[in-house]
Amino acid sequence: MPDSDPDPRPSAATLPAAGFLLLALLLLGGWWYARTQQAGALEEALQPWADTSLPEPGAQVDTALASLGAQVFRQKCTACHALTAEDQVGPNLTGVTRRRTAAWLQSMILAPDSMTRDDPDAQALKAHYGVQMMVPGGIDTLQTRAVLEFLRRVDAGAPD
Ligand code: HEC
Repeated sequence: MPDSDPDPRPSAATLPAAGFLLLALLLLGGWWYARTQQAGALEEALQPWADTSLPEPGAQVDTALASLGAQVFRQKCTACHALTAEDQVGPNLTGVTRRRTAAWLQSMILAPDSMTRDDPDAQALKAHYGVQMMVPGGIDTLQTRAVLEFLRRVDAGAPD
């Protein structure tokens, strides 16, 4: 056999590298699975509100729905919004349910790009913040309803 034949045995460096890759894949898989489970559990918990329409102005806050909305807020909104006095990438959302109607908020959260196109208030926000609002991974009507209830609870002065 000529010396130049490649050695079929794995070199000393290959094994740890393969082990590391396997470990990384396992961790990634675990993380992804946990995320899917978490999202599934939230969707299931929201089902009792599946037919809920928008709240009338001044209607009592549904605290159970608001708690689920707090989870949605943490997952999908805190990258850009805070509930403190300071603006982040987007505006501070404290008091927003007093400034805007529920229908306006629902449209803004569900379809911010069409709002920027068609609504003068949304256009003014875009001009001020210089960034187009978008929710990474998207958000559905039920999650939007829940996050709206959470914002209503914040504005009613209840703890998060
Ligand atoms: C990638 C950043 C980003 C994420 C994530 C994001 N927003 Fe926004 N949001 C913005 C920006 C920037 C504005 C203002 C400019 C605009 O309207 O495009 C805004 C505006 C708003 C407004 C209007 C505020 C006002 O003063 O009238 C509301 C309400 C809002 N966002 C709610 C949410 C909610 C609820 C979520 C989570 C489901 C969310 N946003 C996720 C960036 C974001």
